[in-house]
Amino acid sequence: MAGWLESSGSIDMAFELSEKTDKRIREEILPRYPFKKSAILPVLWAIQEEKGHLCREALLYAAQVVEQPPAHVYSVLTFYTMFFQQPIGRFHLQVCKTASCEIMGCRQITDRLRQRLGIDVGQTTADGLFTLSQVECLAACELAPMIQVNEDYYGPLTPEKVDELLEDLKSGRQQVKPCL
Ligand code: FES
Repeated sequence: MAGWLESSGSIDMAFELSEKTDKRIREEILPRYPFKKSAILPVLWAIQEEKGHLCREALLYAAQVVEQPPAHVYSVLTFYTMFFQQPIGRFHLQVCKTASCEIMGCRQITDRLRQRLGIDVGQTTADGLFTLSQVECLAACELAPMIQVNEDYYGPLTPEKVDELLEDLKSGRQQVKPCL
């Protein structure tokens, strides 16, 4: 992480944002806020919408735009699970691990996903289809244990229902919106 933040803030020439997104950030997003630093979240979101994830150069670009130290933007980026520092799979499986889901068996759900997908939390399958994450309460405790797949919620889950869900996602029987 230290290496990420050693830069003085200059943007690598390899990083290019489309004119459309750059214009959106400078002409639509920034003017909405009294202070540029207040726009950190929508600026990061706009970049992620275009790029799919937020690389080091994206962070430096955002830091320049909102006139904040890269370390501050990094602290925001790493606080929210909705921001990705690496490319993610077509289906982003986010298992809630907070109290209600914990009590109702989210560990079994995570274990089943690990087993079926052959990956650990924080990893993506080799075919690029699935990324597995753990997140805090998604405000759907009545569905515990539950997961979010891209923008959709599923629950209450059992290990058997996890198997069905994975098959439905793979086969296209279960349609979900793309991550971004
Ligand atoms: S504890 Fe899992 S959705 Fe609230």
